[in-house]
Amino acid sequence: MKTDRTIGRRIGIFDSGAGGLTVVRSIVEHRFFDEIVYYGDTARVPYGTKDAATITRYALEALEFFKNFDIDLLVTACNSVSAHALPDLRANADFPIYGVIDPGVLALKNSGLGKEARILVLGTRATIASGRYQRGIRALGYTRIEAVAPSLFVPVVEEGLFDGPVLQSTLEHYFKELTPPDAVILGCTHFPLIAEAIRNYFPNRPLLIHSGEAIAEHLESEGYPPGRAKKTDLKIFASENPNALKSIAKRWLKR
Ligand code: DGL
Repeated sequence: MKTDRTIGRRIGIFDSGAGGLTVVRSIVEHRFFDEIVYYGDTARVPYGTKDAATITRYALEALEFFKNFDIDLLVTACNSVSAHALPDLRANADFPIYGVIDPGVLALKNSGLGKEARILVLGTRATIASGRYQRGIRALGYTRIEAVAPSLFVPVVEEGLFDGPVLQSTLEHYFKELTPPDAVILGCTHFPLIAEAIRNYFPNRPLLIHSGEAIAEHLESEGYPPGRAKKTDLKIFASENPNALKSIAKRWLKR
């Protein structure tokens, strides 16, 4: 097992598709690593509607892809993979593998919100069904937890509809019955791209917890120093149409 974190030159980031680029954005901003190898399983996205066995099989296949590169660690940006496949991934790799769920729960803990706060967890069906966020949050002492799987957010984001009437009516569809939460966990890679719209939907403008920022904080606490790299190169691979993924990266990451 590789353990020297100060060397941490090359990180692998895995997602079911383009959504994990929101995590890439945070990792790039913190300049931890010289190089990111990103792999999006664009041929088989979405994972969030699949069952645990399928998600685990796909994740193990992606792990084989990363073994072609000398990566120092792997982050599974995909919440659905983090919810279901981490133990199998870790059992099959000789480098550390981090998911995004525990860091998200930790970010809530560090937010200092009182235990009476209402927490809304948003994720794919697979993530919400795993109950992993809900269990982690309950273990912190919060009891007012609502978990919702707004599946239509994913295609809306993929269409680039980051504001406007389609997004507004989708928000309305999932949120209209909810009591405004004090914090929202953005438990899906795509949701940070509509973070402001989610926050603005609720009159109290709740605190938002974003996987990308949470994993960056977590990596720092694991001993990976931010600001270590002058800049971070990004290599993008995909199981289908890598050029489409590269052009989304240009748009979302402005690089
Ligand atoms: N990357 C997925 C996640 O965060 C969202 C898209 C999908 O369903 O594959 O769970």
